Amino acid sequence: MSKALLSSNGPRHARILAVGSAIPSRVVDNEYLCGFIDSSDEWITKRTGITERRWLGEGEDLRSLALAAARRAIAKSGLDASQLSAVIVSTVSYFQQTPALAPALAAELGIPNAVAYDISAACAGFCYGLAQAEALVRAGQAQHVLVIGAETLSKLTDPTDRSTAFLFGDGAGAVIVGPSDDNGIGPVVWGSDGGQGDVIWQNSDWAKAVETGAWPYIGMNGQAVFKWATSFIAATAKRCLAQAGLEPDDLDVFIPHQANNRITDTLLRYLKLPERVVVARTITKYGNNSAASIPIAMDELLSTGAAQSGQTALIIGFGAGLVYAGQVVKLP
Ligand code: UT7
Repeated sequence: MSKALLSSNGPRHARILAVGSAIPSRVVDNEYLCGFIDSSDEWITKRTGITERRWLGEGEDLRSLALAAARRAIAKSGLDASQLSAVIVSTVSYFQQTPALAPALAAELGIPNAVAYDISAACAGFCYGLAQAEALVRAGQAQHVLVIGAETLSKLTDPTDRSTAFLFGDGAGAVIVGPSDDNGIGPVVWGSDGGQGDVIWQNSDWAKAVETGAWPYIGMNGQAVFKWATSFIAATAKRCLAQAGLEPDDLDVFIPHQANNRITDTLLRYLKLPERVVVARTITKYGNNSAASIPIAMDELLSTGAAQSGQTALIIGFGAGLVYAGQVVKLP
């Protein structure tokens, strides 16, 4: 007797229904960091675009930021938390090996029996999570998915390291992905190049850190990352557009990972985006928020009225691994 493997019957399309974000209260300006490194406000601003960033303040942590971002996204979606069926958290700065952060957040948010797991894909983490959410919804494996990018990289940044001290900020962003009549999330272009795993690194693993008593920090060959981002990632961004069947002229909004304004400028030139395209520049006041940078920027553009619901946006994340992922989306 044959035993059928029945496939689930999902909707044909998915889209982002809502976005929310949370940034911590402590403002850290360039002058403050120049007390630790031989640098200047002028150098940091000119070379990166960053004038200040946010670090965790009193009573704040990764979990509280992630929760706040998630609650805002859920509220804007009009859904009750109990209607969500999966939670994906992307982070590299949750310092508990197990259990993961996602099931804890699901419980706290009141999402019963959620499929819940964390992913580690550094600054590409949000786009990785979004690709998974889109696939889950489209395949009928989940109805509504909460994707959170949350980072507290201030905890992994050595304030005396001249090559990284000024770059990172803390924050969280979240989206709700759900079924849709038309396609709101284009094909993802993603991958990795582990052969370049040594251009962004953690200077010791946790076991060694415990053994030596030295807290681990992120190190980086900034020039190598810069080169990769302005060549390979530029070409990848072009592939995202092509995969979605779009030309640069079809875009309304560009939300690249907020790594460096000079990288963003180079991507813009390479893609030949029209002047009218709205470009995310949240790095200026929030620094590089890794997996959280794209949803934070998306929320900011929408809440300030710089971008509108339904507009077409190219998003692309890239970072340690090296990993990358990008897709064209309709803004919630
Ligand atoms: O999320 C993804 C992960 N990271 C990134 O995407 C980062 C990508 N890379 C970058 O954003 C840039 O490489 C940095 C902003 C990190 C560095 O900028 P750069 O233009 O690549 O600087 P550089 O390392 O080529 O150094 C240029 C000059 C050097 O001086 P000389 O030799 O020209 O006299 C450095 O000594 O700038 C000097 N320099 C600094 N000066 C003041 C390097 N770091 C600093 C500093 N303050 N913090």
